[in-house]
Amino acid sequence: MKKLLSLLTAAFLIAGMTACTETVTPPADTTAPADPQSSEASEPAVEAEEPADELITVGYAQVGAESDWRTANTVSFQSTFTAENGYELIFDDAQQKQENQVKAIRNFIAQEVDYIVLAPTTETGWETVLGEAKEAGIPVILSDRQVVVTDDTLYECWVGGNFLKEGQDGVTWLNNYLVENGRDSEALNCVLLQGTIGSSAQIGRTQGIEEGIAANPNLTLLEKQTGEFTQAKGQEVMESFLKAYDDIDVVFAENDNMAFGAIDAIKAAGKVPGKDIIIISFDAVKAAFDAMIAGDLNCSVECNPLHGPRVSEIIQKLEAGEAVEKIQYVDEGVFDQSNAEAELPNRMY
Ligand code: AHR
Repeated sequence: MKKLLSLLTAAFLIAGMTACTETVTPPADTTAPADPQSSEASEPAVEAEEPADELITVGYAQVGAESDWRTANTVSFQSTFTAENGYELIFDDAQQKQENQVKAIRNFIAQEVDYIVLAPTTETGWETVLGEAKEAGIPVILSDRQVVVTDDTLYECWVGGNFLKEGQDGVTWLNNYLVENGRDSEALNCVLLQGTIGSSAQIGRTQGIEEGIAANPNLTLLEKQTGEFTQAKGQEVMESFLKAYDDIDVVFAENDNMAFGAIDAIKAAGKVPGKDIIIISFDAVKAAFDAMIAGDLNCSVECNPLHGPRVSEIIQKLEAGEAVEKIQYVDEGVFDQSNAEAELPNRMY
């Protein structure tokens, strides 16, 4: 789609970008194999080369590498947007910083990519840079988290999980579990490990969890604090909760990795995770199934990260001039110790 000049310009720009940006597939004009049968005299040079504009260039502004979910999401894009599938992927890891994502988008614009895919760190602050992409005529597809902008023509569409529903599903699972175990009239204290503050995943899950807790008179939310979606920070915050309160009954961790950190903190405090303290998390990565089978984690609400093929399908529709749905939610399940062992072999991430 883009001219050789753009690719050469891109090479200079990439050299000036953060170390986290990588071009995953080589430019189209360097992939055509030399024809050993051809001779300079008989073959015109122009016929020996594949056209430089065959691949669709996609810049992916990724959040970072903070969790197992995020790693699976990166792999999904890198294995979908390959030269074999007709793409050149320029991947940027923003290390969980919005300013890095803004820089990456500006670099994608300068490189004249065909599409920009953005998994936004947080919901606000995108108006200006998405306006620049629109001005440059580059369609933006949002994946995973959403943005709050006054003009929704700044992006083509969004695909991801329903974070509010995930939070609600977590509390519904707890309420059912308490009934099944004859504990539904017990007064229980909860703590909440939140994700990155201002991200859709945090905003939706926190709302679903807080509203669910408020609707059950037996549940009290003692405290909430961010663990930034990382295992290390989840452990640190859980350690501080355990020091502050000796009567925690339930932990909601807004992703699996923070739950793994909380499990370590609970064990170090001499308590039994999954028994003394009920733990509910989000994502349903393979390691969460291992933790449920081990009895440490009680429930994981699915958040599906395999968006690469979904975004590719959207791009193919746009290329064909077809309309795409503006908001596309992905179906997600709820897993617990009762089905973890049977389900683990089916897990893709
Ligand atoms: O936005 C999705 C969330 O981001 C996942 O739940 C979490 O693990 C990741 O870091």
